[in-house]
Amino acid sequence: MTEAGVRVPALEDAEEAEKEAGRVSKIPVVPQGAPWTAVERVMFERRSIRKFRKTQVPAHVIRRLLEVARFAPSQGNCQPWKLVVVRDAAMIQGMEDFCVGECRKLTESLDYATMRKGSLKYRVARAKTKVFGRLQPNMLHPVPITACTAIAQGRFAVFHHAPTVILVLMDKRAIGVPAIDIGICGTNIVLAAQSLGLGTCWVGFSKFLNESKEWCAKFGAEDPFEIEEAICVGYPVGDTTHLIPRETHETAWFEGGKRELIY
Ligand SMILES: Cc1cc2nc3c(=O)[nH]c(=O)nc-3n(C[C@H](O)[C@H](O)[C@H](O)COP(=O)(O)O)c2cc1C
Repeated sequence: MTEAGVRVPALEDAEEAEKEAGRVSKIPVVPQGAPWTAVERVMFERRSIRKFRKTQVPAHVIRRLLEVARFAPSQGNCQPWKLVVVRDAAMIQGMEDFCVGECRKLTESLDYATMRKGSLKYRVARAKTKVFGRLQPNMLHPVPITACTAIAQGRFAVFHHAPTVILVLMDKRAIGVPAIDIGICGTNIVLAAQSLGLGTCWVGFSKFLNESKEWCAKFGAEDPFEIEEAICVGYPVGDTTHLIPRETHETAWFEGGKRELIY
């Protein structure tokens, strides 16, 4: 157990091995039980922030985030991203309203349980839900569907009233899986923001903006680009410094001809 209360596999003390072999180690092996580094702490402490102060983040701070995004790795160094920074409250509200409208359309057309049983509307919605469920089963997972309904009913915000929203556009032509590159690029932004005292929240629902020709034209989200994700950025409300517990995942570890399971 370490300082942050997270279990990590024991690190082999390579320095000791080097000493035993009569060599002076030049390998910078972190000693077992050493405190977490600043970078590791940022990773542990980050969590999604859904309540922001009204104070805008200074432009030079956002520029730092764009700079770290530029250094993200990508398959074949394709760098298949284009970032769009939105800091106008009226524009963010417009994006919010559009996404809320799309959530309404989606829930109204799929939620047949609220319709008169046997009616044409009911039967069409039921058939659509079945087809949709076959084609994109993950989209009918309770988490996105519940969130979509909450957004449609005004119980959950899409962009969380953040003062700055960074849209992450993806170039679909990139080799490999460009969505992964987008995720890494966004992770650079999110972790750097955390290190600068900012809060962030990824917004997958921003994809709804792709349904609007006007928004797409404004953001340059036209073929081969599309809006893949958005990241809300701002100063968090309240104390966000305590660690959130996480479940452990089973990990297979092959070494010395043996297979072990660690957690
Ligand atoms: C790609 C991606 C998309 C997400 N989309 C949304 C979203 O649309 N709205 C939202 O409130 N949170 C969104 N989240 C945040 C997740 O709900 C959150 O990361 C998860 O519950 C874990 O909590 P944590 O970020 O506080 O550790 C998204 C996260 C990721 C990585």
